[in-house]
Amino acid sequence: MNNFTIRTMKLSEFNIVAKLVYDSVHTLCKGEYTPEQLEAWVPKNLYMPAFRRSLFRCYALVCICEGKIVGFMSTERDGYVNRLYTHPDWVNKGVATALLNKTEEWARAHKITKLLLESSKVAEGFYAKHGFEKIGEIKSLKNNVEFISAKMRKELV
Ligand SMILES: CC(C)(COP(=O)(O)OP(=O)(O)OC[C@H]1O[C@@H](n2cnc3c(N)ncnc32)[C@H](O)[C@@H]1OP(=O)(O)O)[C@@H](O)C(=O)NCCC(=O)NCCS
Repeated sequence: MNNFTIRTMKLSEFNIVAKLVYDSVHTLCKGEYTPEQLEAWVPKNLYMPAFRRSLFRCYALVCICEGKIVGFMSTERDGYVNRLYTHPDWVNKGVATALLNKTEEWARAHKITKLLLESSKVAEGFYAKHGFEKIGEIKSLKNNVEFISAKMRKELV
């Protein structure tokens, strides 16, 4: 069992987290998406102004293990989960589960009754395993490239 610390992200950690998001998407998602989609999702230059801005309003968490940031999750104040990424060297060790558990704890404490998200093809199985139900599909454009995501919901009881 790994010894993880889950804590809120500091804005000064943006560059480390952005690099983690890049490595996660470009390593773990390359079997499911084209190179063009991966670059549109997370560009190599890590210029992601909307991502940086969202951190001012979101509940953003990092997972620390052995002194390193190994996972990241952010959620809007209404329970919309907008990001969950594990560093590729740390998959299947419980990082995302620990981040999701802490987010659910926060949501319940703030009387949020459900979590909603749009899942990548890679994460759908993970979310299903953690009690999320698929309620539809969404077509969207990221940097003018088309993506199809699963819309998923979890009621918090
Ligand atoms: C999806 C993701 C966050 C899971 O992170 P992780 O830290 O490896 O997840 P955990 O180790 O907590 O996994 C917990 C369980 O889910 C399972 N799981 C993980 N990914 C799964 C998948 N795609 N399908 C089915 N089960 C999955 C694991 O086997 C594990 O099961 P176990 O507890 O019975 O062993 C990670 O694969 C990732 O970062 N993917 C790329 C980025 C991405 O698509 N993010 C989502 C954006 S919407």
